[in-house]
Amino acid sequence: YETYNAVSDKTLKGKLVVVIDTLRATSVITTALVNGSKEVIPVADIEEAVNLSCNFDKDEILLGGERNAVKIDGFDLSNSPLEYSKDVVEGKTIILTTTNGTRALKKASSSDDVVVGCLLNVSSIAEYIQREDKDVVIICAGTEGKFSIDDIITAGAILHKLKELKPYESDDLSKASYFLYESFKDNVLDIMKYGYHLNRIEKLGYHDDVKFCTTIDMFSIVPKYINGVVKIC
Ligand code: MLT
Repeated sequence: YETYNAVSDKTLKGKLVVVIDTLRATSVITTALVNGSKEVIPVADIEEAVNLSCNFDKDEILLGGERNAVKIDGFDLSNSPLEYSKDVVEGKTIILTTTNGTRALKKASSSDDVVVGCLLNVSSIAEYIQREDKDVVIICAGTEGKFSIDDIITAGAILHKLKELKPYESDDLSKASYFLYESFKDNVLDIMKYGYHLNRIEKLGYHDDVKFCTTIDMFSIVPKYINGVVKIC
């Protein structure tokens, strides 16, 4: 269990890596793919996103993401999963750049088995971990390089589900996430409401995003990050 800026490539080689940014990048990616987006390409910088978009026809591409949690000037979509509806994203390639989530994904690319987790797809991720039967590293994107409650609750939810599927050993931070989730599993918002990032996006008016992103198991897909692109596996 790592936060992404502390992860070394050596730690990830040969491991199954689950990248989590519940509020909101990995929830956006999951929702876009459920709604028929062809693929999501995570990139670290705005300039890189714009340059990459020039390689596509205008009608096959959408630029999405945020800086300081708000939409980037000139982009098609913000980082609100509610904007990634079927009528908007179906058949499209999405180039996404966010402050922490897309960077955490790029950081994970030294593993060839990277999946995208959030509260929306807890059970599917746990089932994937069971099937793969490898050592697992959970990377929590966090916020501005710091620990974020929403991500650790999601890690705990995945570990909780996994425990129903098979016995496993875990480090202390994973155990802490497990017990934190267990204490709040009937209403994860009871603890998540104290989080810095959640409060920030609430203040910006994204209350419906918080409600959406904290719904457990709304979807049953496993988005997989392979060769720089996220698709349903
Ligand atoms: C991030 O990647 O930092 C977050 O998804 C930010 C946000 O919620 O807009």
